[in-house]
Amino acid sequence: MSNTLDASALVAPLSSLANVEGIVSIPYFSGIFEQFESYLTADETWDLSSILKVCETYSANTPILEIGCGNGRVSMYLAENGFSVHGIDNSVDALNRFQNRLLAKSNISNKIKIINSDIITYTSQFKYELIILSNLTIHLFNDPNALKSLFVSVSGLLSDSGKFCFSIFEEASIERMSMYKGNTFCTPFTDYGGYKNLVWRALRFDDSDNTLALSCFVQNRVSESEILGYLSAHKNKFWKLKEIFSIIDEDSFSLVKTFRDYVEGGGANGLGTQTIVLEKVIRN
Ligand SMILES: C[S@@+](CC[C@H](N)C(=O)[O-])C[C@H]1O[C@@H](n2cnc3c(N)ncnc32)[C@H](O)[C@@H]1O
Repeated sequence: MSNTLDASALVAPLSSLANVEGIVSIPYFSGIFEQFESYLTADETWDLSSILKVCETYSANTPILEIGCGNGRVSMYLAENGFSVHGIDNSVDALNRFQNRLLAKSNISNKIKIINSDIITYTSQFKYELIILSNLTIHLFNDPNALKSLFVSVSGLLSDSGKFCFSIFEEASIERMSMYKGNTFCTPFTDYGGYKNLVWRALRFDDSDNTLALSCFVQNRVSESEILGYLSAHKNKFWKLKEIFSIIDEDSFSLVKTFRDYVEGGGANGLGTQTIVLEKVIRN
């Protein structure tokens, strides 16, 4: 087993693990890190009332598409409020978690359809009136090409005048990210198998381009010859709304409204966010 992440993708001090034999790199939303992410986020509620307000004007029978539905936190909440939801995610592990959580909710399982796909390549004959991308997930589309591709895909999945709702950190929150100039956190975490782990996370904010690089490591065993563990690296780009409009085709969406919320829990606890609703512009 060997690691495929190079040191430059990792935040110090975890960059010292780049070439350690036996440490395997995996995507953040998979394996042990998916369990950790679900443990951190599955019960978050801070954005749900704004999302429900956006949905209120839609018929309960018209499916809403949730991109990056993960463990089903938002999709299940909407189904519990009577809506029909299609949830899409490219992480099989996150969708398995979603399926398992649904087993305990037989009253809503017929309101939910789960789709395993990358949103960038997903197409559908059905056109949605509302698409949601919650929990600041848009920041994972961390370069202009990825962001542009996301909007092209969303536009292709929306009906004429369909709405796209997503959340971003507000500008004052981005300024406060400078507190993450190279912090390391160590969090005890019991996984779903009942095993106790320590998750090491290293964060580095770059204020020249408002990106936050995150690296994570979990050691799961030490053998005589190798340290066995998992490593992952990902990056958030904290887009401002005006940057988003400058990257997407400017005439393709118009701003409908924004809601203000505050993150509760996790490293971003207390930071302000905006839930943004855009409308697809009909072209003649
Ligand atoms: C921050 S989590 C949000 C999960 C859930 N919506 C919530 O609010 O708790 C982001 C999710 O987006 C998914 N994701 C990231 N990029 C994606 C892509 N290109 N296509 C589909 N899903 C994606 C990840 O697998 C992960 O489950």
